[in-house]
Order: sequence, then C-alpha cells, then structure tokens
Amino acid sequence: MPLMGVVLEVRDLVKVYPTDGVPVRALDAISLSVEKGEFVAIMGASGSGKSTLLHLMGGLDQPTAGSIHIEGNDILAMNDKERTLFRRRRMGIIFQAYNLIPTLDAIENVALVTMIDGSDTAHAMEKAAALLERVDLGHRMRHRPQALSGGEQQRVAIARAMMNDPAVVLADEPTGNLDSQHAQAIWRLLAALSKDRDCTVVAVTHESTGATFADRVVMLKDGRVVDTVTPGGEQDASMVAARYAQLAS
Ligand SMILES: Nc1ncnc2c1ncn2[C@@H]1O[C@H](COP(=O)(O)OP(=O)(O)OP(=O)(O)O)[C@@H](O)[C@H]1O
Ligand SMILES: [Mg+2]
Repeated sequence: MPLMGVVLEVRDLVKVYPTDGVPVRALDAISLSVEKGEFVAIMGASGSGKSTLLHLMGGLDQPTAGSIHIEGNDILAMNDKERTLFRRRRMGIIFQAYNLIPTLDAIENVALVTMIDGSDTAHAMEKAAALLERVDLGHRMRHRPQALSGGEQQRVAIARAMMNDPAVVLADEPTGNLDSQHAQAIWRLLAALSKDRDCTVVAVTHESTGATFADRVVMLKDGRVVDTVTPGGEQDASMVAARYAQLAS
C-alpha cells in the first residue's frame, strides 16, 4: 500500500525497447513517490528517458518491469479499457503540441472531456468557463485553436487537463513551443493550479527557470535518477542550471 499523502508511486520501473540492433534500456529501475499537491519537475538530457517515464505513468505504454500506483490503484493490473477510463477520469495529460480539436472552440475543447463521460452539457460548459477564467482566457472562450496564440492554446490544454479534477497532471515539455516569457507564465500557472487545487503535477522540462517553479526537481541520466534538487524559487535558476549541466559531464 502507498504511504498516506502519496498520490503517485513508481517502483523499480524498467523499460527496455526491443530494437533491430541492441535493445535500448530507456529506464533503469526508477523509483519515485509524489505527494498530493506536489509539483515535481523532471529534467535530463535528450534521450535520458523523461518522455518514456511520463508515458508509463500515464498508462500510455507498458513497462518491462516495475509497478505504478496512482491513488493506490495499480494501473498495470488494469485492462486497456479500465486504464483508458482511469486516465480520462483521474489524470490530465499535457503535451508539447497542444492537441486541441481544431473544429471546436476553446470552451468546447475543455468541456468535451467530461461530456464524453456523460456529464450534463450545461454543467460541463459552466465548469469549462470557470477553468478558462482561471487560466485568464475568459475573453477567448469562443475562439477556435487557430485563432489563439501558442501560449493561449497551451492554457486551453491546461484547463482541459484540469477539467476532471485529476489526481495527477502529467506534462511533457509543455512550454517547448513557447518563448521564454510565455513559458514562464505557463510554469507559474501550473505551480499555482497545483497548489490551489491540491493537484499533483509531474512536468518534464529542459528549462531550469521553469523547473524552479516546482517543489522538487528530479534529474535523470541514462534512465536513472541521479540527483534531486529543491529550488527555493526563481532566484535558484542558476543553481538548477548548474546541477543540470553536471549531468552532461
Ligand atoms: N519506441 C522506441 N523504440 C526504441 N527506442 C526508443 C523508443 N522510444 C524511445 N526510445 C529510446 O529510449 C531512450 C529514451 O527516450 P525518451 O524519449 O524517453 O527520452 P527523453 O528524455 O524524453 O528525450 P528528449 O529530451 O529528446 O525528448 C532514447 O535513447 C530513445 O532513443
Ligand atoms: Mg522527450
């Protein structure tokens, strides 16, 4: 059983990709516990296993070995249908590409996720509107994705990820397509949402400034956790950058 307060528990996670040549050991026995309302950033060089870890946590792929529990649920013991439902109801996933539905406007993109699950339309739209207000897009609710800037589209995707009051939000380089000023606003928003909604957030990033918004920064190298940093705020960006630079050495 997971500890009290732990929402996401990963134990000895191994992922080996079979290839035509030498198999790739993308994750080499990773263990990580994340508390309710905690915001963890995952950093590491390209190829260190960040996306692989996030995909496994999201039940989007199967590990070679190890376990993953979310709110005490063994997601690897679920069948595909159960896992899909669990993901939809208890998890929010944010990618670098915003993945919004182009024919739907902002509020419909956010509301859709609960309407699929049979939620009352009026209630879903009301909740989606409140979330869009929360991400400062109250004035853009009826815009379709193509009429929104990159930062605005990512804020719609964040509102969508929050729509089901998820236990865990997973984000893979959510600011990868944004300039540093807009990226900063997204990190600040993720940190604030994590705190005021008591939502656990795990976000992959290359940006040390972004990572300083997290409670804890976990650094990966060759599929292993090699360092953990607890930044005290944006002023620690250079400290995080220095520790990150050490990974390459
Ligand atoms: N489907 C796959 N088949 C074979 N190898 C893979 C596959 N997906 C990833 N890998 C390999 O596993 C390792 C980890 O990949 P992963 O995508 O998790 O890295 P990452 O840390 O997210 O990198 P980046 O910062 O470039 O996104 C890499 O060596 C990669 O080449
Ligand atoms: Mg990646």
